[in-house]
This record gives sequence, C-alpha cells and structure tokens, in this order.
Amino acid sequence: MKAKLDQIREQAMAQIKSCDTMEKLNEIRVGILGKKGELTSVLKSMKEVSPEDRPKVGQWVNETREEIEKAIEASRTKMEKALREAKLKAEVIDVTLPAKKAEIGHRHPNTIALEEVERIFVGMGYEVVEGPEVEKDYYNFEALNIPADHPAKDEQDTFYITGDILLRTQTSPVQVREMETGKMPIRMIAPGRVFRADEVDATHSPSFHQIEGLVIDKNITFADLKGTLAAFARELFGEETKVKFRPHHFPFTEPSAEMDVTCFKCQGKGCRFCKGSGWIEILGCGMVHPHVLEMSGIDPEQYSGFAFGVGLERIALLKYEIDDMRLLYENDIRFLKQF
Ligand code: DAH
Repeated sequence: MKAKLDQIREQAMAQIKSCDTMEKLNEIRVGILGKKGELTSVLKSMKEVSPEDRPKVGQWVNETREEIEKAIEASRTKMEKALREAKLKAEVIDVTLPAKKAEIGHRHPNTIALEEVERIFVGMGYEVVEGPEVEKDYYNFEALNIPADHPAKDEQDTFYITGDILLRTQTSPVQVREMETGKMPIRMIAPGRVFRADEVDATHSPSFHQIEGLVIDKNITFADLKGTLAAFARELFGEETKVKFRPHHFPFTEPSAEMDVTCFKCQGKGCRFCKGSGWIEILGCGMVHPHVLEMSGIDPEQYSGFAFGVGLERIALLKYEIDDMRLLYENDIRFLKQF
C-alpha cells in the first residue's frame, strides 16, 4: 500500500512539475483527487486493509493527498502570477509616446464674419433676432411694399412651397415680424439664410446669408442711419475707412441708398481688388417707407426708422480676400483652416 501511494505521489509530482496550463493542472487534480481519481480509488480499497492497519494507511493516504494538494496549489499560484505579469507587460503604457491629437474643427469664415458683425451691433445696443427660412409671401414681399405684380419680385425669383409659402429671398421679412410685435423702440439685427433661384458661379449661390438691420424709434433720421453704418464700417474694415452713400431704390425704404466703403486694400487709390474705383459696395439701406410702417401697425407720424441689409458672404469674401464664393460651400478643411 505504501509503495502504491509513493508511486501515485511521485507520478503526480512529475505531472504537476511539467504542467504548463491551468486546464492541464485541473485535469491532473481530477485524475488523482477526483471522484474516480487514483487516490480516491485507494481510499475505496481501504476495506481490504485489516482494521488495525487502517489508521496507519489512512494517515498515509491523507499525507499523500495533502502533499499533492499543496503542490497543485503552489503550481496554480505560480501560473497565476506569471499570467498576471504577462498581462501587465502586454498592457504597459509608454507615457513617453506622443499623445494622439484630437482633431478640432474650425469656424467657417461666414461664422467668423457674422460673429464680428454681431459683436459690433450688440456693442451699439442691438438685439440679435431670427425669423423663419420658410416664409409667407406676405412677409417676404407684400408687407415690404412689393405687391403681386411688382418687378422686384422677378429679381428675387424664389422657390415656392405653395402659392403663398416660399423660401425667403431676403432677411427683410424679419423686419415686419419685429414691427408687428408692437414693442417699441426696435434696434435689431437679423442674420440668416436666404434663397434665390440663381445658378452657382463665383458670386452667386441659390442659398446664401444676409444680415438685416432695423431701428425704429421717435425722431430717427437719415443722419442716424449714416452715423451708425459709418461706425459699423470703421469697426469692420478699419478706422480709416470712409463711406459713401449712392441713391438707390428698394420698395420698402424711402429714400434708399447703397453704401460703399473705401477699398481697404488701396485705401481708395484704386486697385485690382476694387476694380480701380477705390470703392467697394457693401450694403443696401434706407429710411423705412411710411407705408411699410403703417402695414405693420406703426404710426408713421409718431415713429420713423432706418433699415439695412448686408450680404454675409460678401463681407466674408472681402474681409478674407477670397475670390470665389463657391469655396465657402465646399467645406474643405484645408481652405477653412486659413481663417
Ligand atoms: N433685402 C434687400 C435685398 O435682398 C437688401 C436690403 C436693402 C435690406 C435695403 C434692407 C434695406 O433692409 O433697407 O436686396
């Protein structure tokens, strides 16, 4: 019996020693100590041992089992430690490697220009408001003194949703919406997207942006308009910038004008940028037509005001010396990053 136990132990020790995975170790344990294991079958044959020898043999069996269990445990601990070390080694972080840079986007030139314009007007006490891009014919044309058969409607041919709902061709309808609220005085700018049935080229797009301006109060005159827009131009294009107002026609203002600024490239001397004239046109403006005030429920005897409309792309193109409007819509990061 003793010899048999010694043989089991020796074999077990050899197996454990040469074992290199947890699975194999487990198989060894089951093969020796399991229900049908070698050592268990020795225990089962105890009944053949004479009663006086049983305690002795029992002790041998227990000693053998303990030794084998200890060896298995030691081997398991060793393997677990090795596994843990291998895992740590595999997951090691080299803190000296350069960090992954998060790609950060870039503000669009339109956005930069808009924020600049907003900053200037907010600084003069204006509120920034918005109106809908899908607009009623009434707000886009009718209430701005552009009746059904007015030729200005052809110039701003647009995308109709139904007979009287359309994509706005200008931000001017926001003027009407503001005036209709009846809250006086008004000092607002309204930036936003507008639409026209234009072919795409270097200076046209079926969708672009405008910034509308409106001031309504008592005793507002053309002098306020000039002073405000001249201050705006100096802030935007530099202190030396001069402005010039040319008579123009817009149905919703009377009188109306277009404002030019001295070319910021040549300071008015005339260059390629301003096509030799020294001046660059930047906006339309005028005194709000009394009929427009009346239609929106404002008494033109009590109140007067001025309005203006700026093309946002035009400002962005001028400010950043971009010569093709299409570049603004391609969203090429290499282009956008330059501003
Ligand atoms: N809405 C005009 C356009 O799209 C621009 C404009 C001109 C707006 C004069 C105004 C203004 O408010 O007073 O051509």
